Amino acid sequence: MLLNRQIRLSAKEPKMPITAEQTPKTILRIDASMRRTGSSSRLLSDELIAKLSAEESHRIINRDLADGIPLINENWINANFTPEEDRTAEQLETLALSDALVGELMESDTLVIGLPIYNFGVPAALKAWIDLVCRARLTFKYTENGPVGLLEGRKAYIVVASGGTAAGSEIDYAARYMQHVLGFIGIHDVEVIDASGQMIDTDAALSRAREHISRQESVLAAVA
Ligand SMILES: Cc1cc2nc3c(=O)[nH]c(=O)nc-3n(C[C@H](O)[C@H](O)[C@H](O)COP(=O)(O)O)c2cc1C
Repeated sequence: MLLNRQIRLSAKEPKMPITAEQTPKTILRIDASMRRTGSSSRLLSDELIAKLSAEESHRIINRDLADGIPLINENWINANFTPEEDRTAEQLETLALSDALVGELMESDTLVIGLPIYNFGVPAALKAWIDLVCRARLTFKYTENGPVGLLEGRKAYIVVASGGTAAGSEIDYAARYMQHVLGFIGIHDVEVIDASGQMIDTDAALSRAREHISRQESVLAAVA
């Protein structure tokens, strides 16, 4: 199982080179399609990232869930509920991947999530990722007024592909659920790129998504 993250600068030559005072923006790309060929969500995520990084090079963190991702289990839950200072070496090891995935989120300014609808919900691998990144005290905290997300200040794109289930409809338990989870960890600025309905009219679904992507602005580097 390949779990090491891959980080690369976007291949495109920057039109405006990043100066010493600027730091490149980081895009975390998460692919949840189990298809590596013929995947619309992967194709449109490529196009969206090209658009977002058209003006400047970006650091891209690739987290491809088709590489495999483990499910949480009893050891993981016990380790997570053990205070950090009391964790055994084994418990630290149990949480290592989860820590790395949370670290990827913390490093990112923008998220691009390629989301195919599988059986009206998110692919199982994406649910496994969600279970590993929703961590009390790291990505959300409990307060008197209920849970509060800790990853504010980030923007997320959800690139939704489906055969017939319309994104945002009553039977969509994928995009709406994903939006809710992102809000739970503090990411409220979420844009859904809708490529649903591929089996009804593939060209129309792709054109609608591409038109949405064409309206996105390049994410510029932050001045340090
Ligand atoms: C296991 C599985 C379950 C699916 N379930 C649904 C579904 O509930 N609703 C739907 O509209 N399409 C469903 N589809 C079709 C996919 O959402 C569609 O092929 C989509 O384009 C997949 O994304 P991708 O092209 O990025 O791989 C399913 C496909 C697979 C493989």
